[in-house]
Amino acid sequence: MNKLYPDSKVEVQGLMAKYYDTLLNIATFGMYKSFIEKAIKKMDISPDDRILDFGAGTGRNALLMNKYLSDKGEILGLEISEKMIQQFKIKTSNIPNIRVINQSIDKPLNLEEKFDKVFISFVLHGFPHSVRKDIIRSAFNALKNDGEFIVLDFNKFILKNTPFYFRIPFKTIECKYAFDFVEKDWKNILHTYGFNRFEESYFFQKYVRLLKAKK
Ligand SMILES: C[S@@+](CC[C@H](N)C(=O)[O-])C[C@H]1O[C@@H](n2cnc3c(N)ncnc32)[C@H](O)[C@@H]1O
Repeated sequence: MNKLYPDSKVEVQGLMAKYYDTLLNIATFGMYKSFIEKAIKKMDISPDDRILDFGAGTGRNALLMNKYLSDKGEILGLEISEKMIQQFKIKTSNIPNIRVINQSIDKPLNLEEKFDKVFISFVLHGFPHSVRKDIIRSAFNALKNDGEFIVLDFNKFILKNTPFYFRIPFKTIECKYAFDFVEKDWKNILHTYGFNRFEESYFFQKYVRLLKAKK
């Protein structure tokens, strides 16, 4: 599959997609598991929540979110990578309230139902800014009134002021879109799209943030 945005590194395909969870565990020296468990706990999921997972990946996050849901709760993953969808389906095959569909998050969603939460984890930074705006609009339209857009991604920082041991790997691994993402005021941007009442939690020495925004 060709990339929609050739400079993006969040369009994960092939072997990278197949071994995504393992690679993440290795890249974070085994810290990813406890980090993502803590981040998902901070989402404050209610048992009957209906959650939309933008760029759902392998289904690892969906399984963790599902621990907080009752039978009435539901998770719908949106993904474009066939390899990711395949893994998501295998991981969640015995859980009826978790589904995944092949749907690009920057295109109109046309979903029949509204959701309590839209979760987007390490996806938003990987797009040109104009596309991020389409994604934010998609999230807003998919949410119920009072629903929450929850962005787990890089926090705000000035890259040139970060220590070399962070700056060099970041510049080497991350796509060019991430460089402007980290310098933007995301609360302000989300506010211009109708979101309010922000709550933040920080991880990895504040380089990563879970940002909750109410519709
Ligand atoms: C960096 S991975 C993060 C996966 C997952 N959210 C996580 O935290 O483990 C980014 C994911 O977004 C998906 N993705 C990229 N562009 C997308 C798009 N336009 N629509 C839906 N999913 C997309 C990729 O296929 C990949 O699975």
